[in-house]
Amino acid sequence: MHLTRDEELALAGENGPGLQRAMELLVALGRIYDAERLVPIASAHLSGVSYKTIGDGGLDFLEEISPTAKVTVPTTLNPAGMDLDRWREMGVDEEFAAKQTAIIRAYGRMGVQTNCTCTPYLTGNSPKQGEAVAWAESSALSFVNSVLGARTNREGGPGALAAAIVGKTPLYGLHLEENRRPTVVVEAETFDEITDLSLLGHAVGTKLGSAVPYFKGIRPDCNGLKTMAAAMAAAGSVAMFHVEGVTPGNKEQDLKGLERVGFEREDISRARDTLTTGREPDLIALGCPHLSQMEMKMLASMLDGKRPRKDGPEVWFCTSRTVRTWCPKETAVLERFGKVVCDTCMIVAPIENQHRCTATNSAKACTYLPSLCSQKVVCGSYAELLRLIA
Ligand code: F3S
Repeated sequence: MHLTRDEELALAGENGPGLQRAMELLVALGRIYDAERLVPIASAHLSGVSYKTIGDGGLDFLEEISPTAKVTVPTTLNPAGMDLDRWREMGVDEEFAAKQTAIIRAYGRMGVQTNCTCTPYLTGNSPKQGEAVAWAESSALSFVNSVLGARTNREGGPGALAAAIVGKTPLYGLHLEENRRPTVVVEAETFDEITDLSLLGHAVGTKLGSAVPYFKGIRPDCNGLKTMAAAMAAAGSVAMFHVEGVTPGNKEQDLKGLERVGFEREDISRARDTLTTGREPDLIALGCPHLSQMEMKMLASMLDGKRPRKDGPEVWFCTSRTVRTWCPKETAVLERFGKVVCDTCMIVAPIENQHRCTATNSAKACTYLPSLCSQKVVCGSYAELLRLIA
């Protein structure tokens, strides 16, 4: 891989050990993927934030690197293992909270914005069409590629952090036009309901793996697109998809000769049946990916004027701190039925210490709840799940 004189110096440690370690990682990645050179990035988004997922090893690494490394582009963080203010109400213990706080402080020392959310594109970190970025978090990076038309590979936490420090990323994979073209046409029935779109994403991801699907027949809004992106990335490893009339620049795509695969309501029902493994939830968790302002309004309007059921399950509405601040009236309505939790989600919080069966409308959450949180799962729509609490 070709390196400029400045990059060579950084690699040799002339600009300190933090930058040197980051360069070493990017050069190693670039060599593995045969990248021609590094390209500047406009922003980064980092995963590897919850103490539950990165543990003491991750914390030690961040403590070690943070005094000598600084990010050089706007950089945001994925959800942590707890609401940074209301962790006691979530049943998080003191030791977990202390370590989670230390992780956030280490990222803060490096100049990372510590507003922990998997939907940073809704609250300020929104890459422009054609920009190169380095994003981790499979749902967010797929949204960036497919809806915003910016370019990122499916970064892991360390690769995204290294890119944030250097301000560059190796030029390979989805940064190259030829790897962004559709590889299969998906002809889907018209689905509008958000849970149906999530389940469609699950069915497509399961069947097509790491393809670049081109969807015909659906016109999801922003909320539908974010849940589809999340589900496809979790069930398969889809990091880029096209939706006809939605994905920037896809009018020119040549679909001649591509395989065509149909998805119908039966596929959605099958996905839902496969994901449902429990019957009586003791937690209902909504907001995977984090609830948008529009979803907060919709949920509040569905619950406004109703009375909370006695002895209903605990409820979490997971969103970003910014969206919660934008929605004071909606938050007040939702808080009568459960907790509007920020900075975290049902997957990266240690819910297994409190709960056995979780209900959600997100196929991504349904995919990970059994393996990462030891949960039985109930998959249902917003309307079905709200009927359990109001
Ligand atoms: Fe976000 Fe957690 Fe889902 S990080 S996409 S809410 S698993």
